Amino acid sequence: MVKVGVLGATGMVGQRFIQLLADHPDFEIAALAASGRSAGKKYEDATTWYMNSEMPESVRDITVIETDPAQMDKDVEIVFSSLPADFAAKVEPEFAKDFVVASNASAMRMKKDIPLVIPEVNPQFLDMIEAQQKNNNWDGFIVTNPNCSTIALTLTLKPIYDNFNINRIYVSTMQAVSGAGYNGVPSMAILDNLVPYIGGEEEKMESETLHLLGSLDGDEVVPANFSLSASCHRVPVIDGHTE
Ligand SMILES: NC(=O)c1ccc[n+]([C@@H]2O[C@H](COP(=O)([O-])OP(=O)(O)OC[C@H]3O[C@@H](n4cnc5c(N)ncnc54)[C@H](OP(=O)(O)O)[C@@H]3O)[C@@H](O)[C@H]2O)c1
Repeated sequence: MVKVGVLGATGMVGQRFIQLLADHPDFEIAALAASGRSAGKKYEDATTWYMNSEMPESVRDITVIETDPAQMDKDVEIVFSSLPADFAAKVEPEFAKDFVVASNASAMRMKKDIPLVIPEVNPQFLDMIEAQQKNNNWDGFIVTNPNCSTIALTLTLKPIYDNFNINRIYVSTMQAVSGAGYNGVPSMAILDNLVPYIGGEEEKMESETLHLLGSLDGDEVVPANFSLSASCHRVPVIDGHTE
């Protein structure tokens, strides 16, 4: 079994990681980290559990630690990160000195030598890990996944791009409130309403899609060369985006 940790373990995405990892045949959850608000508490006391299944027994009594590599069990090999982007930008490189960091946060996605990967689309980007470790003198590394709406769009575009090429894409999304986290969208703003703009989301969809469909020139990504215009909207749906 590979020992793993979850950063941002008390949040919406952290809970989903725990739900997926708890009964996994290859992984054992060995550490759960969050902010100073949660550190020192048992996971079940620190967390308001939002998932549609019971909190797994195996994590209830784990004591939440601060998000600090010095506090992480040295037997942990992979940390799954679901930290807010600004904090992830500071702390993920610190973890990468010793651990593999698999991140859902946006902070490091477009950085040089850091693979932004959808396994079905661009697994070859993982080749840049060697350069990342060498350039930073890290024993671990960081690998990231894209924005949620970008994943669905890029999976769809990939076979079209490979077989027919693409000149121009216009995409509109209708995104569920879960995408903004539990405290993300005030109920007064979204009930009986649509929010016609999600800050930062359109830019991420446009840049990440071209990056993912791009090619590697050595360790540099050359983005795909077509124009893409995204408009992203928040809708009063709990889970599941439409685009
Ligand atoms: N929601 C989604 O569907 C979704 C999808 C893809 C990616 N993401 C990305 O995943 C990340 C988390 O999203 P979320 O919806 O799970 O957010 P969230 O529910 O607000 O959870 C945030 C987590 O980060 C921890 N945290 C906050 N500030 C911290 C700090 N200064 N130091 C250490 N830990 C801190 C929180 O711990 P405490 O409980 O102790 O405060 C909590 O565990 C974001 O970067 C988001 O963009 C979200």
